[in-house]
Amino acid sequence: MTELIYEVKNLTKVFETGFFRTSKIVALNDVTFNVSKGDVLSIVGESGSGKSTLAKILLKLEKPTSGKILYKGGVDLSEIDNRRYWREVQAVFQDPYASFNPVHKVDHVLKAPLKNYFDHLSERDIYNRIKETLEFVGLRASETLGKYPHQFSGGQLQRIMIARALLVDPEVLIADEPVSMIDASLRIEILNLLHDINVKKGITILFITHDLSLASYISNKILVLYRGGKSWSMVILRRLSRIHCIHILNY
Ligand SMILES: Nc1ncnc2c1ncn2[C@@H]1O[C@H](COP(=O)(O)OP(=O)(O)O)[C@@H](O)[C@H]1O
Ligand SMILES: [Mg+2]
Repeated sequence: MTELIYEVKNLTKVFETGFFRTSKIVALNDVTFNVSKGDVLSIVGESGSGKSTLAKILLKLEKPTSGKILYKGGVDLSEIDNRRYWREVQAVFQDPYASFNPVHKVDHVLKAPLKNYFDHLSERDIYNRIKETLEFVGLRASETLGKYPHQFSGGQLQRIMIARALLVDPEVLIADEPVSMIDASLRIEILNLLHDINVKKGITILFITHDLSLASYISNKILVLYRGGKSWSMVILRRLSRIHCIHILNY
């Protein structure tokens, strides 16, 4: 049986805003789904539909109001050590420019996770690992290291961020709109890279997008978040070679 990576059960997130916390925003309402090892699950929805909130909760950057997430083997996500978890579950975000400090060479962003998680590695080991990973994402170390973020295009910076995520050998990659700020002509290349990461490295991918066509290009499972009337609802489309069945939840 395929190993379950996430069992998300009745997840709800309500933000309380305003001076007296009187207004409430229901960002996620009773969301339930599973992610299996090796899946490429797309989470699709219009702007404001709760995609990033879901990503942040899965990344342990935000706490749910109610509901549960069980991680590999049924351990409650809230009980897992953050350091261990953030090595196994890496993220790539929408804005590649915002992920870099403009005064640091890109080397800095690549070395940091290795120094953090693999403190026994020599400088040579670090260099070799970075070189190999940059090549995997389609960049040359000689043309990448030693340069500042402004010397790269958005697409190249996003590849560097993907390399950064891969450097620590994660099991899951959560990519929150990774191509929405990238030129349309380069998007498909990044999607193909995510596909390679899934197939060649066996990494489970959660791909967040507002674009259903990108989702259907890359994923074997699609979760659609949308606002239905006053409540938030969810549909899961399951796609193998073609969409062959649709599960409708809370609808
Ligand atoms: N920290 C926050 N405080 C208050 N409201 C928030 C916060 N984060 C998100 N929201 C609200 O929750 C809803 C979902 O936001 P988000 O998850 O960012 O959607 P998406 O990523 O699909 O565009 C939006 O109405 C947004 O304004
Ligand atoms: Mg978002």
